[in-house]
Order: sequence, then C-alpha cells, then structure tokens
Amino acid sequence: MIKLVFCARRRSNLTPADFSDYWKNHHGPLFQKHAYRYRALRYVQNHTLNHPINDGMRTSRGSSEPYDGVGEIWWRSIEDFLTVIRDPSMADLRRLFVEDESRFVDLARSAVFFTEEVEFPLPTPPAPATAEDTPDPETIRSEVRRRYGSIASGEATLKSSARTSCCGAAAPETPKRASCGCETDEQARTLGYTEADIAATPAGANLGLGCGNPVAIASLQIGQTVLDLGAGAGFDAFLAARAVGPSGRVIGVDMTPEMVAKARANAARNGFTQVEFRLGEIEALPVADGIVDVIISNCVINLCPDKCPVYREAFRVLKPGGRIAVSDVVAREELPDEVKRDLALHSGCLAGATPLAELAAILRHAGFVEIVIRPKSNSAEVIESWDAVASVGAKVFAAEVLARKPAPDDRAPARCCCGGATPAAK
Ligand SMILES: C[S@@+](CC[C@H](N)C(=O)[O-])C[C@H]1O[C@@H](n2cnc3c(N)ncnc32)[C@H](O)[C@@H]1O
Repeated sequence: MIKLVFCARRRSNLTPADFSDYWKNHHGPLFQKHAYRYRALRYVQNHTLNHPINDGMRTSRGSSEPYDGVGEIWWRSIEDFLTVIRDPSMADLRRLFVEDESRFVDLARSAVFFTEEVEFPLPTPPAPATAEDTPDPETIRSEVRRRYGSIASGEATLKSSARTSCCGAAAPETPKRASCGCETDEQARTLGYTEADIAATPAGANLGLGCGNPVAIASLQIGQTVLDLGAGAGFDAFLAARAVGPSGRVIGVDMTPEMVAKARANAARNGFTQVEFRLGEIEALPVADGIVDVIISNCVINLCPDKCPVYREAFRVLKPGGRIAVSDVVAREELPDEVKRDLALHSGCLAGATPLAELAAILRHAGFVEIVIRPKSNSAEVIESWDAVASVGAKVFAAEVLARKPAPDDRAPARCCCGGATPAAK
C-alpha cells in the first residue's frame, strides 16, 4: 500500500480551533462520503495538539512551527491512484476538494507527498510482576519431584544437565567412592565433609546436592534417633547412622519415589539395618509424635513452598529438648519478583530461600527456642561454586539453622532471636 501524506498549515485568518473544526466536521466527512470513488482504502486525520509539549519539542530540536494537522489517505498502489485521478469523470470531484481545501488550508505553506510505510513491530514489553506470575505451590512441588526424580534415576547427571546450583547437580554412579576423585567428592569437601566421611558412605549416596554438612553441627550421640528431612539418596542419613551407632536409629523422609528407592537400595547393599527411608512430604511427616532426638536436613526446606508446616511438623516429632541442625539456603532479604517467578531457580534451591528475619519468626512461632541462623563459615565459596547464581548469589547465603524444642524442666527463660541468639547474616 502507498499513502498520501498531507501536512497542512491553516489559513492566516483562522485560529487553530477554527481549522481543526472545519477539517474534522466538514472536510473529513466530505471525503469520507466520496472515498469509494477515489478508491481510497483508509483515511486518517492527525490534529496537532494545543499543548506546551509541542513548544518544548520544537525548541529542544530547533525545529520550525508544527503543521496544524496531517492527513493520510491509503491506496493499493500509485497506479490505482493515477487511474482515478486521470479519469475525466472525476474532474468535478477533484475541483470540489481543491476548492474546499483552499477554504481552510494555506496550500503554499503546506506539503503533500506519497510515502510507503515501513513498520517496525515492537516487542511486547515484559509485563509488570504480579502475584499470579509466581509459580503456585503445586507447580513448584511437582517440578522439584521431577527434577530430583530424574537425578536419582541417573537421567540427569553432572555431564548431561546444566548445573545451576547445589541442587542442579547429580553424580554419575561411581563404583569406588573414596578414590574416584569425582566432582561430588570435591563438592563434599567444600561443604565440610572429611575424607573419612566420604569414604564411609556408600557409592551413589552422595549426589552432590547439599549446601552444608548438617551432621557436623548436630552433635549426635550414640543411641539417638535422628530424622533426615529430604534425605535424597541417603548421604547424611548414613553419616548420622555412623554417629549414633548400632543402638541408634535414623529415619530418612523424601517425597521423590526414585530417591527413596535409591536410598533404600544403598542401605540394603551396605548393611545399614538401623537406617530406614520413608516416602512422604516433610510438611506432613510420616513419623510419630515426640520420638526424635535430632532432626537434620540438607538443602531441602528452601524447596518447600510453605516453611511453616515443615517446622511445625519438626517440632511435633521431636522429643522435648530435641534439636534441629539444618543446612539450607536462606535469603538476606526478600528476593526480587523475577527470581521468585523462575521455576528452575526454585528447584535449584535459590528462589525459595526465606528471608532471615522471616525464618526466625517461623521457628519462634513453631515453638522453638535457642534459635541460631548463621552463615556457614565458607558460605560465599559454597554459593559461588554454583553456576547460575549471578543474579541471586549476593542475596542468599548457605546457612546453618539450629534450634531446640523446649523441655518441661527448662529453667532459664527461652531466648529468642530478638535476645541475640540469631546473628545477622554477613
Ligand atoms: C537438594 S536435594 C538434597 C538431598 C539430600 N538432602 C542431599 O543432601 O543429598 C532435595 C531433596 O529433597 C526432597 N524434597 C524436596 N521437597 C520435599 C518435601 N516437601 N518433602 C520431602 N522431600 C522433599 C527432594 O526429593 C530431594 O531428594
């Protein structure tokens, strides 16, 4: 299509309002009525705004006075237009329009020419963040289950899947743990596991999915009952079993069937008779009330859309005086909306990190005392070792979360985070 552009200046005896009124209410309807005879396809008037913005535009660019209006008429082609104009039967109509134009347009100071439109389609601007954009809890849960299911079944490995964080990694099956020198062992060393820890766990139990070493901060005693929330393939559960000895007991809970199957196979192959793995969600633990001495967990609770039921359940199953020793990712402050909208960052243990102050409040409300939430000593090294954290890395830290369920014989008043038990993250 081609377009006739008519940049019009009003006659000197007219005000801008007179010009606009005549063009809009007389000339426009006149052309509209005869447009079919002109074979015109489209007709648009652009009336210049009477607004100081136009003075500003003109002076900032050093331009001349604006036109009073710009008319546009479209034809299929120049040939179409010429056919109409050269048609002798159109002579009267042409004369009518030129006469009418001269009543309100200063033709000598106006401009008229044909153009061809070149349109640049503009990308849709990103929609402002809304609560609806954040994945809903069920979407997060099923993505977490899918991701860790494929890691457990070996479909995603360090080689085959992009590694976004601790939770994005998976180790290929390694027949000889201690001497393999594989990436998950190296990761375990960064997280604070000793060579003895690495050597003591069954092959395939360490999938490189943690963000700390909860057993190292749990002060486990011989004979205790330990619960591992989100036990994965059993790495920490097996280390806890070594610490509590044959008279102790370890229960691992995980919601991903492939993980539970892998952990059970690891236990059976290596004779861990005091370790048991149960399928279930840690928001509704398949564990009786008040039977656990210590709860451990490694890089799991951040994956739960709602942390309140997790800590409520932890409180329920602990014996009075029982403790939690959790490694997890915690946020220094509220994370940006674009992070919270990213499902991969959720299942990658970043987007679900709870702000420090909120986490302390959740623990207090669940009933815990002696709450400590502190950055792991090499938190920066742990977080920086994850590949895709550039936009989030500075906003989160690898945390150690410690707390105790009060016992009836507690004499000292319970300390809470406000009393100084929760150092701020550095
Ligand atoms: C990052 S991996 C950590 C696994 C293990 N703690 C480790 O360090 O190797 C997270 C694990 O938590 C499990 N998980 C995530 N959300 C859970 C929930 N709400 N209930 C039970 N398990 C969950 C996943 O299935 C996955 O096995």
